[in-house]
Amino acid sequence: LKIFSGGSNLNLAMEICKHIGIPLSAMKVSRFSNDNLFVQIKESVREDDVFVVQSLTTPVSDHLMELMLTLDALRSASAKRITAVIPYYSYARSDKKDAPRISIAARLVADLLKTAGADRVLTMDLHADAVHGFFSIPVDHLTAMPTICDYFAALLDLSKVVVVATDAGGAKRAGRFAQRLDTSLAIIDKRRISDSNVEQGLVVGNVKGLDAIIFDDEISTGGTLVSTVETLERAGAAKVYVGATHPVLCGRAVENLSQMFISEIVVTNTVHIPSKKRFSQLKTLSVA
Ligand code: R5P
Repeated sequence: LKIFSGGSNLNLAMEICKHIGIPLSAMKVSRFSNDNLFVQIKESVREDDVFVVQSLTTPVSDHLMELMLTLDALRSASAKRITAVIPYYSYARSDKKDAPRISIAARLVADLLKTAGADRVLTMDLHADAVHGFFSIPVDHLTAMPTICDYFAALLDLSKVVVVATDAGGAKRAGRFAQRLDTSLAIIDKRRISDSNVEQGLVVGNVKGLDAIIFDDEISTGGTLVSTVETLERAGAAKVYVGATHPVLCGRAVENLSQMFISEIVVTNTVHIPSKKRFSQLKTLSVA
């Protein structure tokens, strides 16, 4: 078994290697003067079971291309089986035709990964469960839910907790989280105005006087959270916590969230958080 890492999340790849007790295998990534990427596997992988860890984080196109070149190089080097480990599959958000003349990129990228050489994909908390079915190769779709649940179960008095879904689409996911913690569930009526702008109104369920845990798959611009926290404050929640698998934290997410009435934001290391994006309420759990 051999593990390689792309440039998006070297720390996670090294932690995985530490758990398994093997060194990270060597590869070289560089760029030609015309901007083309170049990937070279630096050791033999002939007949090996190979895993490549790469999250599709900013710059997504570069990280995707780096992953595809790595898969292709491994296949050319006669690896026996190649698994693309994609802890955060960003294109899962483009999963349906919700505007005219658009690409369903979640399916296109799934096809590209297979074409590049992936025999299997291992990923975590896809934005929509259905994206699993976009792949024509086997997919292990893992979840960080047990890791995040265990953390809150040790931190809070669960008899005073309500789990909150930020919108109807996330109700199933948050419902599973509430079921695991054995708490009640509230759902917020969210309308997305644009990529970074959301509007919320009604809270379905009781949050008054309770500690609310907002549970979502990812924090991207933070727009959803800002508006959810404001809605929960208005509805009388005692404290607000957040649990989310993928800390994408783009745009003004850090500036906005660090000033909100949030006791703790619990995320995982599927996405590497550079030190300049860390703030006091943010707690990272490992999914290695
Ligand atoms: C929405 O459908 C998702 O579950 C997340 O709530 C969303 O992706 C978060 O995006 P943002 O932080 O930009 O509002």
